[in-house]
Parts: sequence; structure tokens; C-alpha cells
Amino acid sequence: MWKWIETAALAAVLFATPALAGIGTPATEAEIAALDRDVRADGAGLPPGKGAVEQGAAIYAEKCAACHGEFGEGAGRMPALIGGEDSLRGDRPRRTVGSFWPYAPTLFDYIRRAMPLGHGNTLSDDETYALTAHILELNGIVTGDFIADMHTLPRVRMPNQAGFRRRPPPRRAVPRCMRQCRKTPARIIRRATRRGDEP
Ligand code: HEC
Repeated sequence: MWKWIETAALAAVLFATPALAGIGTPATEAEIAALDRDVRADGAGLPPGKGAVEQGAAIYAEKCAACHGEFGEGAGRMPALIGGEDSLRGDRPRRTVGSFWPYAPTLFDYIRRAMPLGHGNTLSDDETYALTAHILELNGIVTGDFIADMHTLPRVRMPNQAGFRRRPPPRRAVPRCMRQCRKTPARIIRRATRRGDEP
């Protein structure tokens, strides 16, 4: 009897759970808008608002310096945000905003989405612009009077911008043979296109 009741109770919970979790309900406009706020490398998606280097310095001291160091040098084992410029080709590349990041708009996107660590999506857009400006200034990429906004960030030239390939390297035209490989190259005797086999 108890076994039967337990089974029935379990079944009730299992059937009820999808409804509770909202599975199957269409996402609302607000839910989509909350997720759909990525910023692209060319600046598409940057929101209105702005922030100056000095404003960023104050927020940085309060919310970021404990982990990233007073000047972005990194505290303890936490990552540095400056330096490493000549290290990328070495055995121990130090990837920082100054040495590695190719675009400033995606720096904005990352900070807004992921920082402070464990508290992503808590900074306002103005705060994020100010922090982006400050970190760029710590790296000597912009000057102290820089104001970050949707127009200025896409125009910032990051030091390592040319360090990334725009296109992936060309793929091998012929798949690599794995076993029982021919010693001599194959000879083409007929082409499928000629027989009309290909669409
Ligand atoms: C509790 C520690 C902590 C705090 C506070 C913190 N960060 Fe971070 N931050 C990290 C860690 C750890 C990473 C590396 C995360 C990873 O690679 O997944 C990181 C990565 C970053 C990066 C990317 C670095 C790179 O070169 O890839 C940026 C930029 C950054 N943080 C900015 C900020 C800003 C701005 C703040 C303050 C609003 C902040 N962080 C606060 C720990 C922290």
C-alpha cells in the first residue's frame, strides 16, 4: 500500500515539474531582451550612455582592485589586466587587455556580462563604459580625457588587433588517408558532374 502511494506521489511530482518550470511557454519580450544584449567587435549592440576614465578609476578601486590590483597588475593569482606586451610569442604568453584583446567593444561586453567575478550583469551601462575607459587608460591605449561610448569604443585601435587571423587557414582539399593508403597518387578517370550525377 505505502509503496503504491509513494509511486503515485512520485509520478505526480514528475508530471507536475515541467509545468512548474515553465517548460513549453514562449519566452516573453522582456526575457529575450535580458539575454539578447551581446556587443560585437565592431560595436554593434553597444548601448547608449558613456563613462570617463576618472569615474572608472573610482569604481575600479571599489569593485575590481581587490582582485586585479590597484593598477591592473593582478593581485595574488588573479589575472593582470595590463602588461605582457612582448610575451605572446614566448613560451609563457601573458594575455592581458593590453597585450591580447583585439577589440574594445567586446571588452565592454565582457565586463558587463562577467565582472565583478560572481556578480555579472550588476554594473550599469555607464559604470561599464567608465571601467572600460579606465582599463584602456591603465594600458596606455587611450589618454586620461577619454570618454567611452558607443561611438568612441569601436574606433579604439587595440595593440594586438592585427594578431588574429580574420579567416581560418585553408582546409586540406583531400581528406588525409588513415590506412591502406596508396603509394602513388590516384588517377581521375571520370567526373560525376559530366554524367549528371551531381545536382
Ligand atoms: C573576486 C575577484 C574578481 C573581482 C572582484 C573582479 N574580477 Fe575581473 N576577473 C577575475 C578572474 C578570476 C578573471 C578570469 C576569468 C576567466 O578567465 O574566466 C577575471 C577576468 C577579467 C577580465 C578579462 C581579463 C583577460 O585578459 O581575459 C577583465 C577585463 C576583468 N576581469 C575586469 C574586471 C573589472 C572591471 C572588475 C570590477 C568591476 C573585476 N574584473 C572584478 C576576478 C575578479
